[in-house]
Amino acid sequence: MYTAQAFVEDVVRAIRSDPQDAQGKCLEYMQQAVGNPDLLQDYQEQLSNSWEFHMARTPECAIKVFKFKATEKPNYPHDHAGFWGDYIIFRGVMEMAFFEEENPGTEGWPGLRELTRFSMPFGATRKIRPDQIHAVWSNQDGTLAIAVYNGDLNSSRRRIYDLVNKVCIRDLSQWQTRETLGHSGGDLRQLKKEEIRGER
Ligand SMILES: [Fe+2]
Repeated sequence: MYTAQAFVEDVVRAIRSDPQDAQGKCLEYMQQAVGNPDLLQDYQEQLSNSWEFHMARTPECAIKVFKFKATEKPNYPHDHAGFWGDYIIFRGVMEMAFFEEENPGTEGWPGLRELTRFSMPFGATRKIRPDQIHAVWSNQDGTLAIAVYNGDLNSSRRRIYDLVNKVCIRDLSQWQTRETLGHSGGDLRQLKKEEIRGER
């Protein structure tokens, strides 16, 4: 049985030892891990308390698990601050969409054009390129996804777009307050104020 610990060790080692080759290699480990139904057993408590937790977090690597509340539409497209990402679905069905800015370089709201959207059922994988703008959501409560990034996403500066309130934040370092925003009812303008106060 491929344990959670072995999975984490393999991913961290792959990213540290061979950054060029690591994205594909990590996806192979993720596919192997998803075959273990007990993979997240040690994390049940974190899963009940939060919409995300880290299986690993280092300056050069993050392994996150996301637990979704059902929602109909994407609201927060974002990028990964130049890190690549690998996604795999562990339970349920996740939706993903890709976007591009309509007017890149605009101050304020650049506009977002949706390019494509698709459903990812159990076992489905997707590689995300650095700086690719995307959103993830699920219309099924309890959908679980595992994501691997070649950097500490929660300490990075990246872009997040609020589609409902037409707000774009380009220097948001963290997204932990999303839990209190909910998936569709939040207001990024509020988040911006709090985050900026925290950063300076
Ligand atoms: Fe993402």
